[in-house]
Amino acid sequence: MAIGPEGPAETPHIAYPDEVHTVHAQAPAKINLALRVGGPRSDGFHPLQTVFCALDLWDAIVVKPAEGLSLTITGIELEVDDNNLALKAARALQSHTGTSRGADIAIHKGIPVAGGLAGGSADAAGTLVALNALWGLDLPREELHELAAELGSDVPFMLMGGLALGVSRGEDLHAIKPGAFQSWVLVLDDEGLSTPAVFRRYDELKPEPHAPADVDELMSALRSPSVTNLAGLLMNDLEEPAFTLRPDLKERFDRVAGTGVATVLSGSGPTIGVLCESVAAADSLAKQLTSEGLRAVRADGPAAGAHIVRSS
Ligand code: C5P
Repeated sequence: MAIGPEGPAETPHIAYPDEVHTVHAQAPAKINLALRVGGPRSDGFHPLQTVFCALDLWDAIVVKPAEGLSLTITGIELEVDDNNLALKAARALQSHTGTSRGADIAIHKGIPVAGGLAGGSADAAGTLVALNALWGLDLPREELHELAAELGSDVPFMLMGGLALGVSRGEDLHAIKPGAFQSWVLVLDDEGLSTPAVFRRYDELKPEPHAPADVDELMSALRSPSVTNLAGLLMNDLEEPAFTLRPDLKERFDRVAGTGVATVLSGSGPTIGVLCESVAAADSLAKQLTSEGLRAVRADGPAAGAHIVRSS
């Protein structure tokens, strides 16, 4: 339209490209194939050598534009407070970019809470990815990674997914090319375990300064096309402190140990992972343990990190 000396002859109707109204994302669970812990650093965090594997157990994160920020959680009974990691992720993204946009965030939990499966960290990662799209921020993955690391030690891996070595607090990640598909049975618990409490007990049990053990043998076995080579190599230094806090967990661990290729506590627990030889073996073990009264589900990996499923 031509603009003459009197200005535009009529008010033009500006047709903006279609706005994104809803973004659907999902984020996986994780298990630690190894979690080797060192004595606490001056900031209180423990140096780690850990191997993460993302599992196809998902939290769904749906975000829509709104004035402020709100969060609703379904699929599980969970109090939403200001410390919720998804809300913290949204606020971190706002202050990092200076955007004044808000969002209604809805999370449907498929990952058990306080289970050592990084469900809260998954929600933070999923929220970062979803709002980055909803708000049209277009931040590159590296920038999201930095924000994720400020939110929590596991959040960067929940963005990355796959299989990775984590060092430092667990946020310094090195991707591992997976040699084999992994089928797991996760034995769940109704009661959560506090991660800081398990780390504190670890320090009481091992007060002398020490570096985390290395995971070199596991790393080379992970290149093998067969999971049977991982037998004897899954290790978690938080098992002993978790078991001293929860002796019933030790009983359950001993009960399921030997039912698959290897058994390991995930993170600070209380979820126990049994790595199985095949999908069929995991299916049948999950059924057997369920019939014996345990809460057992199959989950496979490595799965993708937090990602957008669709937007409309
Ligand atoms: O990093 P994140 O906030 O998820 O950690 C939760 C708690 O777990 C920390 O407050 C700390 O007590 C413990 N932790 C630790 N060393 C790590 C990771 C977590 O001591 N490398």
